[in-house]
Amino acid sequence: MKPIIIANWKMNPLNSKEAFALAKKVANGVKGFTGKVVLCPPYIYIPQLLASKNVEIGAQDCSWQEKGPLTGEVSAKQLKALGCSYVIVGHSERRKYLAETLGMVRAKVEAALRVGLSVILCVENVRELQIIMKKMKRSKNILVVFEPSSAISTQGGKRITPENIATMVGAMKKITGRNSPVLYGGSVNATSIAAIMQKGRVQGVLVGAASLNAKEFISLIKKVA
Ligand code: 13P
Repeated sequence: MKPIIIANWKMNPLNSKEAFALAKKVANGVKGFTGKVVLCPPYIYIPQLLASKNVEIGAQDCSWQEKGPLTGEVSAKQLKALGCSYVIVGHSERRKYLAETLGMVRAKVEAALRVGLSVILCVENVRELQIIMKKMKRSKNILVVFEPSSAISTQGGKRITPENIATMVGAMKKITGRNSPVLYGGSVNATSIAAIMQKGRVQGVLVGAASLNAKEFISLIKKVA
């Protein structure tokens, strides 16, 4: 399976000029990379970044509902129509600050799969994955990300050893299937990536802070290439 490196820009950068410049630098820097690079900017920057070469574009979230009077929400179908190919769901920041439940996360996964988006499903542990995947008919097009909130750079950045990551990857694959990808997220940077990819037995990574610096992000990707 080809490695997949996903950038979660969160609520960055400040304006569309900076977003465009960052995406352009990354797109140029990853030319020739045999894996996949996905950039997930805030919704507002997606239209202008869709034409970027060498990278795919994803959203950071979608609604759990298909349509309806839901102020501020964006549906999976709208994202698909726009040209997105990926969507992140279940991120611990949304679960913590916006009180998203696992039921909502599951509904988001289903909504996204229905319209043909690939789902980047963030979970903190095996139990969460079990609950979300319960009654789900398939795990195709789901990229599970083991991302413990305590490991996120802005939340303490606790280091998880590659060996511990490998154990979790094994446990999660028992739920989604041996051939389904499991990724890791939490303070991944150009220094930590090699050990995580090799010893952590992951198919890729979800990168926050380090993806906002084009030089650092490109050098991280080159360590995988
Ligand atoms: P950091 O890479 O900044 O720790 O963020 C991880 C993350 O939350 C990606 O979704």
